[in-house]
Amino acid sequence: MAKSSVLSGIQPTADSFHIGNYFGALRQWVQMQDTHECFYTVVDLHAITAEFDPKVLKKRTLSSFAQLLAVGIDTKKSTVFVQSQVPQHPQLAWVLSCFTGFGEAGRMTQFKDKTQKGGQERSSVGLFTYPILQAADILLYQAQSVPVGEDQRQHLELTRDLAVRFNNQFGQTFVVPEAFIVKESAKILDLQDPTAKMSKSSPQGCVFIMDEPDAVMKKFKTAMTDSGKEIKYDPANKPGVSNLLNIIKAITNEEMSAIEAQFANKGYGDLKTFTGELVVEKIVKPFREKTLALLGDEKELNSLMSEGAQKAEKVASATLKSVYEKVGF
Ligand code: TYM
Repeated sequence: MAKSSVLSGIQPTADSFHIGNYFGALRQWVQMQDTHECFYTVVDLHAITAEFDPKVLKKRTLSSFAQLLAVGIDTKKSTVFVQSQVPQHPQLAWVLSCFTGFGEAGRMTQFKDKTQKGGQERSSVGLFTYPILQAADILLYQAQSVPVGEDQRQHLELTRDLAVRFNNQFGQTFVVPEAFIVKESAKILDLQDPTAKMSKSSPQGCVFIMDEPDAVMKKFKTAMTDSGKEIKYDPANKPGVSNLLNIIKAITNEEMSAIEAQFANKGYGDLKTFTGELVVEKIVKPFREKTLALLGDEKELNSLMSEGAQKAEKVASATLKSVYEKVGF
């Protein structure tokens, strides 16, 4: 039987991915490679929906591609590509945008959050239609499953609605995808403000996989913890401590009760140091070193990118062809 398909994407909008990206999404990407037909993309078209610098974008796209390989994405098992190199993405996005209600797009909470921060006048139309391009990314590959963090759930719902709407009007065209969200690591929190998700926009609370190990230790040692002394998993009352415990669990895979027991007679300082050391040893050091080594051979990376784009385009063009025929082009 043919393997079922997976697609997911990540933006090249920072110099480095962070551990929220890793636990929320990338780790699942790596695991799914053996059981699914996987398509993974660095979404540079999405990255120009907010302010950007072309030179920096180019550098970050290359580095993002290298980081994907460094965390364990294997170009022999999966199709790994840069979104702008596969022209079917914006082509399908245009068609889908004609099937998306204006109000429907306006209800996307990420768009609302971002426009609130930047102001409506400064927000681009591209930012508004961003989720439709994301839907095109997914539907082009007939993906059944989309491994993402919790913040992408609403975009996945829109993707499903668009797929069903198109199928109802034109006959079976798209597989209706499902979000694959691993509950415990779906939302890694900011180390400085454990009520917010970890994000590059708050660099002090965000642990990047390309950070120097010393910088990582400093971020953990100054992490915000909670009142009281007990080390207990209690997200409502102890969000800071629970976030650290969650990170440990994501790495060691132990039961939460076993992790709590390990810290029975210890203090918050011990917990912070332990988590920091674990993240440095298991995540930051190996991924950082591997990425730097891969970036040493740009030619090879560019060649892998072109191969990925060619493989992706074969699948994407078949879907687009059927869509174009159905709408009368
Ligand atoms: P992006 O680039 O913001 O994030 C990449 C992935 O990391 C997850 N993530 C987190 N998970 C847990 N805790 C966190 N603190 C955290 N921060 C980020 C995100 O949920 C995401 O899975 N719109 C997408 C990119 C995209 C895409 C797609 C995803 C474009 N096309 C098609 C899936 C399918 C985004 O901005 O992700």
